[in-house]
Amino acid sequence: MDIRGLGYIGIDVTDVEEWRTYGERLGMMEAGDDTGLRLRIDERPFRVLVGASEGHDGLAFAGWELPDARSLECAATELAAAGITTETATTNECNERCVRGLIRVKDPDGVALELFHGPILDHEPFVSPTGVSGFVAGAHGMGHIVLASPNLAQSVAFYTEVLGFRLSDYWRPGDDDVVFLHCNQRHHSLALVPADEPALYHFMLEACTLDDVGYTLDRHHEANVPISMSLGKHTNDQMVSFYSRSPSGFDVEFGCGGLLIDESTWTVTQITKPSFWGHRQPE
Ligand SMILES: [Fe+2]
Repeated sequence: MDIRGLGYIGIDVTDVEEWRTYGERLGMMEAGDDTGLRLRIDERPFRVLVGASEGHDGLAFAGWELPDARSLECAATELAAAGITTETATTNECNERCVRGLIRVKDPDGVALELFHGPILDHEPFVSPTGVSGFVAGAHGMGHIVLASPNLAQSVAFYTEVLGFRLSDYWRPGDDDVVFLHCNQRHHSLALVPADEPALYHFMLEACTLDDVGYTLDRHHEANVPISMSLGKHTNDQMVSFYSRSPSGFDVEFGCGGLLIDESTWTVTQITKPSFWGHRQPE
């Protein structure tokens, strides 16, 4: 299956107004809120769709991008052959996501996935409200998500054997692996962490420069936005980042300098700590 990247995510939040302020603080551009608050980081109509929810804060869906209609048809056929139920979105539902075609499927943990093709672009120039110089997206997708997975082995099998993700590396902090997966040159677009309940741990946005990260970190301090983990550098994707606590309780990793991998020479390794330095929890 030809998944090319994490196109977008939808999140359920109990306080959309807090997210309006929070999204701006991360340098994201608000682009209307007819079908949910749309937050942009590039030419796409949104990368994060913030939806109002009565009692749930977390991931609503993850949108994975395929290159064209033909590959989406092939994906539907492959999913059917694997005995996995899919649902085809109506024209209206596609319009809401600003895409030309979309099928829905659930992963083994019940996470709602949207496989889509044909994003409909927003040619209004992206201008960061806080002056972030730009975000690394394009062929690398919007960033990555890290999910808590109660059915880790089944989930890894689903993402690699059915959806075609490739292993990047493992981390084994206890008895079980944390598994990092890629679907383009970005070191990981998805990581799965063994846990009792499914959850979104964090999503990651990659800014273009270290200064973007530094200024954004300063804005957090000035506005007293809680920091979950201090500035640090990851061992596997070499991202220099900090973790911001969102109004919804899960984190947003804000970083720069993420590793791009070369599929032709990559071999899977196991890391023994997640960060070279930093990424400390506050006292
Ligand atoms: Fe991350």
